[in-house]
Amino acid sequence: MSKVYVLDHPLIQHKITLIRAEDTGSKDFRELVEEVAMLMAYEVTRDFPLEEVEVKTPLTTCKSKMLAGRKVGIIPILRAGLGMVNGMLKLIPAAKVGHVGLYRDPETLQPVEYYCKLPTDVAERDIIIVDPMLATGGSASAGIQFMKQRGVKNIKLMCLIAAPEGIKRVQEEHPDVDIFTAAVDECLNDHGYIVPGLGDAGDRLFGTK
Ligand code: PRP
Ligand code: URA
Repeated sequence: MSKVYVLDHPLIQHKITLIRAEDTGSKDFRELVEEVAMLMAYEVTRDFPLEEVEVKTPLTTCKSKMLAGRKVGIIPILRAGLGMVNGMLKLIPAAKVGHVGLYRDPETLQPVEYYCKLPTDVAERDIIIVDPMLATGGSASAGIQFMKQRGVKNIKLMCLIAAPEGIKRVQEEHPDVDIFTAAVDECLNDHGYIVPGLGDAGDRLFGTK
């Protein structure tokens, strides 16, 4: 069974509260989502291997550590996942970014694919799928499946707010994928929205409602 990491750092929790607030406008919402993604990237990359190198300081030379050439791919699920990309890239600037376009049919709540553009060497990369909302888990599960179909072995899922239903589904369908979230909320409402949640992440990011 995969692990669920709830990132309870005070800065993350403070910013999640501001993100949830109804009166936070698109500009602040975008900035906060980017900031939280950057802070979460710190934990998501905690298991990255290091190698010892020799470095010449102004005083002497010494052994010190650097990342061991890990190749990373960040995969936002469009649209709302886009809001998390820049924050991630600030900490992992060498990562390549692939895009998976999925929208959730409002009637059936099933994910519908409309776009997919991935790094050519995606199968060799450690992939972090980013999407602010893990609701029914349909979109995340489909996104993970796309990666697996293309030969990706090492996948993590990073979201801001998760519903228990979404966590359960991803864990059942992809027991090898760890989930990193800033909050686990109570439930889904009749329209598949996370309660208390933050509303529609894509609309709030891009001001479409
Ligand atoms: C939202 C969200 C996830 C999905 C979560 O996207 O960003 O991708 O819903 O719901 P699920 O876990 O039930 O699949 P949406 O379909 O609203 O598209 P958008 O990002 O383009 O607004
Ligand atoms: N998508 C969103 O943007 N918000 C939710 O609460 C659920 C799915």
